Amino acid sequence: MSRVAFVTGAGGGIGTAISAALLRDGHHVVASDVDPELLASLPERAGADGLAGELRCLELDVSDEEAVARVVDDVERSSGPIEWGVSVAGVIELGVVTETELDAWRRIFAVNATGVFLVLRALGRRMAGRGGGSLVTVGSNAGLVPRVGMGAYGASKAAASMLTRTLGLELARSGVRCNVVCAGSTRTPMQMRFQGAVGGDEPVVEGSLEAFRTGIPTGRIAEPEDVADAVLYLLSDRARQVTMTELVVDGGASLRS
Ligand SMILES: NC(=O)c1ccc[n+]([C@@H]2O[C@H](COP(=O)([O-])OP(=O)(O)OC[C@H]3O[C@@H](n4cnc5c(N)ncnc54)[C@H](O)[C@@H]3O)[C@@H](O)[C@H]2O)c1
Repeated sequence: MSRVAFVTGAGGGIGTAISAALLRDGHHVVASDVDPELLASLPERAGADGLAGELRCLELDVSDEEAVARVVDDVERSSGPIEWGVSVAGVIELGVVTETELDAWRRIFAVNATGVFLVLRALGRRMAGRGGGSLVTVGSNAGLVPRVGMGAYGASKAAASMLTRTLGLELARSGVRCNVVCAGSTRTPMQMRFQGAVGGDEPVVEGSLEAFRTGIPTGRIAEPEDVADAVLYLLSDRARQVTMTELVVDGGASLRS
């Protein structure tokens, strides 16, 4: 059955993989991103032409309250009720807490926490009114375990996760499920910028005792499709009994049992 799925941050590595997977399964995908150039190249990068579903690309800054409300309203009027929502938009800035400027903290929280709040609130209200829906937030294992240089980023991801799971509790009786996929190191433009700083795949896979960072037990960096598979499962009716959970897709890096 085809669903209307709304994805934020769809122009990036993980967002593109999620959009492509939804299109392959024949869904109507509303792909949004703040970056118009990424949106322009998305249909080609997602291979949209040969796929079963329909793709619509829209510019949206998730940190803009008025824009989120307007875009969700427009989409529902033109494409029909949004049944699935995926918050992928995110930014990262590295820095130890004692050297983090307030402006950097605000930039990170504006997208990773406030942006998730605005999108979840707009979609959650509508889904609750209709008695069904599924929402997934792409979080990070940096929101589960402290990481040197990722204080603000990790805190923003922990905030987004708690918000998503709390909404899951509040809307459970309304038939709306809310879950989090905590990604670990995944081969995307965001991760490549980070790896550029630490010197490639190997230091990430092997870990660093000096930085108290475990490596990746599976011995590989994730591909965006690994994260997309987990998101599609949680969105779907196969996960109908799954809500308020964090599904960790990090090759064991956070040593979660
Ligand atoms: N790549 C990793 O290793 C990794 C690990 C854990 C979690 N994540 C999370 O996965 C998500 C996707 O990351 P990615 O690796 O694909 O990064 P990416 O940089 O390729 O994609 C992020 C996307 O978010 C968009 N974006 C940024 N600010 C926005 C805003 N205000 N409004 C709307 N869109 C905005 C960007 O334009 C970009 O397309 C992020 O939330 C990130 O924190 C990534």
